[in-house]
Amino acid sequence: MNSAQGLLSPHDRPTAAWSTVAGRLGESTMGDVLRWGAGGSVNFAGGFPDERLFPMWHVQDALDDVLARHGSQALQYGSAQGAEWVREAVAGHLERRGVLTSPRTMLLTSGAQQAIDLVTRLYVDPGDVVVTTSPTYFAALELFEAAGAEIVTVPLDERGLDLDRLDAALGDPRAKVCYLITDHQNPTGISLPAEQRPLIADLMRRHACHLIEDDVFGDIAFEPPAPPIQRWAPDRVSYVTSFSKGLSPGLRTGVLAAPADVIGKALALRENTDVCPNTLAHAVAGELLRSGAYHRLLPRLCARYRTRRDALLASLERHLAGRAHWTTARGGFFTWVTLDTATDAEELLKAAARSGVVFLPGSRFRRGGEPEGVQPEGGKPDGGKRAELRLSCARLEPTEIEEGIGRLAGLV
Ligand SMILES: Cc1ncc(COP(=O)(O)O)c(C=O)c1O
Repeated sequence: MNSAQGLLSPHDRPTAAWSTVAGRLGESTMGDVLRWGAGGSVNFAGGFPDERLFPMWHVQDALDDVLARHGSQALQYGSAQGAEWVREAVAGHLERRGVLTSPRTMLLTSGAQQAIDLVTRLYVDPGDVVVTTSPTYFAALELFEAAGAEIVTVPLDERGLDLDRLDAALGDPRAKVCYLITDHQNPTGISLPAEQRPLIADLMRRHACHLIEDDVFGDIAFEPPAPPIQRWAPDRVSYVTSFSKGLSPGLRTGVLAAPADVIGKALALRENTDVCPNTLAHAVAGELLRSGAYHRLLPRLCARYRTRRDALLASLERHLAGRAHWTTARGGFFTWVTLDTATDAEELLKAAARSGVVFLPGSRFRRGGEPEGVQPEGGKPDGGKRAELRLSCARLEPTEIEEGIGRLAGLV
């Protein structure tokens, strides 16, 4: 994940050649999201939580408690694995979620993104295959590409994964890692069906593949989610989550729950990278878990995000019924809209931005030759590409959502 806009012009000074990894890095979709986030547009593009919903007073109280209880040690370097008392509090939280874990088999990271990066670096050499869904989270795709991985994709829709295609993809001996977002997926909002989860775990075992299970939106649930895949194959799965969506991304409190040998290697790698987590920020998150404040606040937060999702679905129905179809997420921030007529989503985005609305085009979330929005039966008269749009309503009030969808519909 980077936002290197304006910093990537060719060298204008004599210098050493870039490393292979640096040579692969370019401007990212995240750069666009951060830029658009700054404008006055109705912004459906970002995946940020709403800062107006951050529990400011609780964070202040937790910070006071941490400083009172731990004194100056709260500001010292800490354990590279994360403070034990914070890991205990996080383990209690993950057990509620159905994850099989313990403080010993857990590493606290700088957000979920660092956990994905560490596990990728443990397994993936250039030329190895990473199997994932089409579509999936763009910053994970960019990370796998930077590692030199070949990305092989398996279709995902509201019925879940195509398990035969997953089986075939994992059959490639170069396939070492699979990356899946189990619940309220970024970008589609889709949750994998409960009945598929043990079957996916079996496939990981059968093909000796390591699964990175990303559950970063697991806590933003409008109905109870099914247990994660990790439950059926704790020896094959690195379960990744964070408190970025349910609490605050600025606290950078991420979690890797994985087999002991993965934790051991990841720990060594992280010591070389950032020495130890942000001890103070993680202690604040730990205190909010320990005191129960996080679990008391979560239902209200989920209710607010649910209201916004409902407003978005109602606006889509009012303005685009019969011209598009869309997913209904059971949690998280995202709705995936597919227009029924041939449209280029990047062109639509340019026109929309001029009208003061931004979204992310579906192509940013696809790789590996999986066709974007091609007519399924190829039989429709317009025959061409159907625009796919990722819409996030997390930071918008219902009136803004209605205004934005109205403007967008006027361009379709
Ligand atoms: C699917 C997914 N995974 C991981 C991340 C990174 O999360 P964090 O902020 O905890 O690093 C994000 C951020 O939006 C995400 O959408």
